[in-house]
Amino acid sequence: MTNDPMTNVPLIAPSILSADFGNLQRDIEMLNQSEADWIHVDIMDGLFVPNISFGFPVAEVAYKHAVKPLDVHLMIVEPDRYLKRFAEAGAAGMTVQLEACPNLHRTIQVIKELGCRAGVAINPHSPVTLLEDIVGDLDLVLIMSVNPGFGGQRFIENTYKKIADLKKLTEKYNPGLLIEVDGGVDQTNAGKLFSAGANVLVAGSSVFSAASPSAMISTLKHA
Ligand code: DX5
Ligand code: ZN
Repeated sequence: MTNDPMTNVPLIAPSILSADFGNLQRDIEMLNQSEADWIHVDIMDGLFVPNISFGFPVAEVAYKHAVKPLDVHLMIVEPDRYLKRFAEAGAAGMTVQLEACPNLHRTIQVIKELGCRAGVAINPHSPVTLLEDIVGDLDLVLIMSVNPGFGGQRFIENTYKKIADLKKLTEKYNPGLLIEVDGGVDQTNAGKLFSAGANVLVAGSSVFSAASPSAMISTLKHA
């Protein structure tokens, strides 16, 4: 199985925000054994979002035990200050928030120079048209399907419209772009999201609150 976006293989990126931090190694090893493709690492600073998650020490533990790429989602102000540190902490991809980046083109070039996949996340209120002049430079766009800051929130239905809008932009500027959806993803919407054009689904609480997280990952991947 390949992660080549052109083959349109659906990817699942479980978020360790919902993992058991007292047993993080165990949970990462479960993800290693599962059908998960990436491991999603949510960094929150208490400024860009009203919550603080974790920082470098936890990301480094994830990297130490993971055999799958770390998909680092930076919900922080001034992410440029920390890109090098997260690359050193093992990020395979880094996604910054559009709303936190006044010099987004420069930020994207730096992520690429660090050898990482470059992504931009957009909040529910931000229209995808704001990406028109940057989408050609990106490897990935992450559509937030909840307001960032917390796991376990309700999925926002307008996400389907945003995927459709983004598909139009990608057809014009970047057919190989990966579309990732993050927030409130579960077995009731995963199939519909893939059908709408999403390539990567992030799932936190639906995976880690399941009786069998690895079975839930499989359910989502084949939805
Ligand atoms: C929310 C984070 C998400 C979160 C998703 O701000 O970006 O990645 O972990 O959690 P669920 O899947 O529970 O909505
Ligand atoms: Zn996230």
